[in-house]
Amino acid sequence: MRTVDDLGDLRGKRVLVRSDLNVPLDGHRITDDGRIRASAPTIGDLADRGARVVVCAHLGRPKGKPVEEFSLAPVAERLAEVLGRPVEFATDTVGRSAKAAVGELGDGDVALLENLRFNPGEESKDETERAAFADDLAALADVYVADGFGAVHRKHASVYDVPQRLPHAAGALVLAETEVLRRLTGEPERPYAVVLGGSKVSHKLGVIDNLIESVDTLLIGGGMVFTFLKAQGHEVGRSLLEEDELDTVRGYLQQAEDKGVEIVLPVDVVAATEFSADADHDVVGVDAIPSDRLGLDIGPESGRLFADRIRGARTVFWNGPMGVFELAPFAEGTRAVAEALTEVTANGGLTVVGGGDSAAAVRALGFEESAFGHISTGGGASLELLEGRDLPGLTVMSDEED
Ligand code: 3PG
Repeated sequence: MRTVDDLGDLRGKRVLVRSDLNVPLDGHRITDDGRIRASAPTIGDLADRGARVVVCAHLGRPKGKPVEEFSLAPVAERLAEVLGRPVEFATDTVGRSAKAAVGELGDGDVALLENLRFNPGEESKDETERAAFADDLAALADVYVADGFGAVHRKHASVYDVPQRLPHAAGALVLAETEVLRRLTGEPERPYAVVLGGSKVSHKLGVIDNLIESVDTLLIGGGMVFTFLKAQGHEVGRSLLEEDELDTVRGYLQQAEDKGVEIVLPVDVVAATEFSADADHDVVGVDAIPSDRLGLDIGPESGRLFADRIRGARTVFWNGPMGVFELAPFAEGTRAVAEALTEVTANGGLTVVGGGDSAAAVRALGFEESAFGHISTGGGASLELLEGRDLPGLTVMSDEED
């Protein structure tokens, strides 16, 4: 992939940067600005080179029309603070406001366009509709820089079609992310452990399938674990359960056994009466989950078990919290896993935290980002890369033709 250095002198050139600024919001308040901070170095570097920087990004899933709650306006403010320079905000994507904002940029200035997904062309499956939007976006710039790693798995206009219309290069974030994640798919130092959590097993099937071929230990927690526990014959009460995936999960358990891959599941869980911070809750063994309760975290015994297995590894990839870490009573499993990863890092192993939720979790729980080898900004993108899939936003960047 070409880098920004390969683009020559950028002074006075309009550079369209595709960033991933999809941050969690509580109303208009940004609750985790990790993706903004991760995107800022490339934007700042382009501005330092004298480029006229036009940043474009998505936020949430507004489905092709303007939705106030998904406006990037609060992100523009935060981006300006992080960059330490003004960010002009265009209130549309390729309309009058965007054209005016870009037209007024001086060398080294930065503008942010409104949420790309307010335009139906961004995500359209219809090539003509996507192409029309890509033409309009490309017309705003002379050069394109791909830096939205979290979106490279999307075949969207700003990710896939625009770079086919402009000289292009990968930004520092995309280069750093792909380099680290490819170390995991290459020859990771062993033992190699992967910790998966989060709510849905169905979102992780591809990666589990692939990981069983490559890891030594697979640890599973979060809401998705209840489908595994049920597949093993446990009753899971009102916990999250994907009945449709039970057979697939049974297949994975068998496959792992055949290949000598250790799948570690919790031995206890924190079971609550409802999904709330002040719900009654108790630690119960996985064979004793009451029928009227739901598991919201792995239990303390499991936290110790998981930490022990993680500490024994030299390479660890972690995607997905172990429980509902946003609610204090259900954060301890996630904390135990994060803590164990920091120990692996301290001992010289490679630790990678992938996915918006786990990255937000380590920050929310007060861990230093430097205590981990790499915190990925990609959720789906990092998983798909580990699955070995071709990601449209990377494939198109590997094409050396302009
Ligand atoms: C993410 O949050 O993983 C990326 O920003 C991509 O968002 P999406 O899943 O809505 O395409």
